[in-house]
Amino acid sequence: MLDLSRRDFARLLALTGSAAFFPERALAAPIRELGLTNAPLPPTPRAPDEKFWEDVRARFLLPRDLGFMNAANLCPTSLPVVDALDRNVRLYEASPSPETRTALMKGREETRKLLAEALRVSPEEIVITRNTSEGNNFVSSGLDLKAGDEVVVFADNHPSNLKAWVDKGKRFGFTVVSVPHVNPHPGTEFYEYVKKNDLITIDSMTDDKGHQLPNIIYPGLDRGELVDWVERFYGEYFFRPRVVWRIVRKAIFNGDERRRLTKEAREYMALRSKRKKFVSEHKAAKATAAVGD
Ligand SMILES: Cc1ncc(COP(=O)(O)O)c(C=O)c1O
Repeated sequence: MLDLSRRDFARLLALTGSAAFFPERALAAPIRELGLTNAPLPPTPRAPDEKFWEDVRARFLLPRDLGFMNAANLCPTSLPVVDALDRNVRLYEASPSPETRTALMKGREETRKLLAEALRVSPEEIVITRNTSEGNNFVSSGLDLKAGDEVVVFADNHPSNLKAWVDKGKRFGFTVVSVPHVNPHPGTEFYEYVKKNDLITIDSMTDDKGHQLPNIIYPGLDRGELVDWVERFYGEYFFRPRVVWRIVRKAIFNGDERRRLTKEAREYMALRSKRKKFVSEHKAAKATAAVGD
């Protein structure tokens, strides 16, 4: 599987396990010999090049010749982060005192500011959670839902999210409707069907900002019409007085909320005009094709 000698593998294991008990200096040489480094990453160049990505790769303990594609459930951690975790756990364990806790909490707030800066939001918008499941559950537990409310979720949500919605629905009396997410993923019956009937489009799957575009041809309903209906759905939902008031009300009294909303509104309006352009271009192309027929 891997082009990695037994000796290198043993050293990698040592770096991840028992060697953690040795001082950091003792690890520096083997880390360097394996082509790894735990030094902070230099600033990202304006146009990241191969050298930059090699620098990134050199900060992961994974064998160098392994192309690791999982960035979710089993997600590798970079060496500077492994070091920081190790250092801070040791700091706390050596002195579990209010002073250490205050220092760690100060570090947490600095982290929050850095994350906010990187994501161009305000620190108040950042919640540092232990994992995605905790984040999702903060959201589902934070909504005041009760009997008569209905939550619509996709059936292929991660179980730690889906199951939590179903359980909370039972506890608080609201209804959870789980909708099967039909997509022509290779290996599914639907994929075989669309392939056999020549119903997959080969155009791009997303627009330049990552918004999904339809990739299946539904006979009698073209791509332009599908995007048109997506846009109409959003328009009819958001441009209702009740929803507008709910959104704007928060922004009137809260400066951070106002800034966040302004940014979101700008992005949404840009996406809306893009979708409208997409729809009108499709209509025009269809009209031209019809004249040609
Ligand atoms: C959509 C989604 N939700 C939740 C999870 C669970 O993530 P975590 O292990 O960070 O709680 C994952 C993990 O892959 C995920 O992809």
